[in-house]
Amino acid sequence: LRDSFVPRAVKQNQRSICCVRPQASSYKVAILGAAGGIGQPLSLLIKMSPLVSALHLYDIANVKGVAADISHCNTPSQVLDFTGASELANCLKGVDVVVIPAGVPRKPGMTRDDLFNINASIVKSLVEAVADNCPEAFIHIISNPVNSTVPIAAEVLKQKGVYDPKKLFGVTTLDVVRANTFVAQKKNLKLIDVDVPVVGGHAGITILPLLSKTKPSVSFTNEEVEELTVRIQNAGTEVVEAKAGAGSATLSMAYAAARFVESSLRALDGDADVYECAFIQSELTELPFFASRVKMGKKGIEAVISADLQGLTEYEAKALEALKPELKASIEKGVAFANKQP
Ligand code: NAD
Ligand code: LMR
Repeated sequence: LRDSFVPRAVKQNQRSICCVRPQASSYKVAILGAAGGIGQPLSLLIKMSPLVSALHLYDIANVKGVAADISHCNTPSQVLDFTGASELANCLKGVDVVVIPAGVPRKPGMTRDDLFNINASIVKSLVEAVADNCPEAFIHIISNPVNSTVPIAAEVLKQKGVYDPKKLFGVTTLDVVRANTFVAQKKNLKLIDVDVPVVGGHAGITILPLLSKTKPSVSFTNEEVEELTVRIQNAGTEVVEAKAGAGSATLSMAYAAARFVESSLRALDGDADVYECAFIQSELTELPFFASRVKMGKKGIEAVISADLQGLTEYEAKALEALKPELKASIEKGVAFANKQP
């Protein structure tokens, strides 16, 4: 299962998994929003990880049944359920990785920013609890709009005096998963070989696949670049429209989030060559947050891969400039929300 999460091109940059010391199941993972469309399949996938010793499932509703069901899988981790604000602190104590998919999804016709009014408050209150109970944990934010919810989380952690920018991640793995899939289909490549870095943010034109940096090296016509870029940027909407009111991507998102959790656990476990894209506090551009490829280690982000932004094609360079105003506004909206007086 682990191998299937990580394309070979990524693995080639990494020490062979066989060289990593035998895995002990010793990490604790909490999922906040575990009974939802993403939360359920994500919980199942994380239950399959040999690195996890405890899986804490939290939701405001319906989580008891999800935990009972998943707990019957004969994999090492112990599954515990937690419901309601009074049980949140216990859910978070001692946890190494917290994943937050809590919040409402889009319906056709909505932008991710249309979710701000509901999801901003949900993320704010959950991250306050993370700050109080497991400030050292890696925090994975899935709830949309990621371009704003990650800055909200950062402000909350700063207010609580526990912000470590190396450990706060907006999960953009799904953009990479989609880019890899669509490029492999278009160019008839073996999927396992393909790796496309995706930078910027996680909404519309702020999602910028760097097709010129695809591994293995592939050449695209201008038409292919335009078609693939637009498809990757609109892939979330493609799913929202296909689901016709029944939500947004849940299964592919669970797959992508499980890959990001597994990468985080491998980094915590001492694997020296773990690379993923994520939306993080950044100095790569003039924007305070920006998605890019990072090297992950025991203490979180060890390095930002700045080389990906060098030698961009004219198309990519223009797209990068074009995304900045929208991304800046979304970041500022999140920061303002987190700092407004109650
Ligand atoms: P969903 O409605 O199926 O599930 C959300 C869950 O969150 C529900 O079980 C709900 O009870 C729970 N919840 C609500 N408030 C909560 C709170 N305060 N504490 C704990 N749990 C709470 O939605 P979904 O399809 O799972 O999507 C969840 C979020 O993920 C949405 O905001 C969606 O836009 C986002 N998303 C992000 C990506 C990405 O790439 N980052 C991809 C897909 C979806
Ligand atoms: C996605 O990219 O699938 C998610 O951000 C969900 C959405 O609203 O599109």
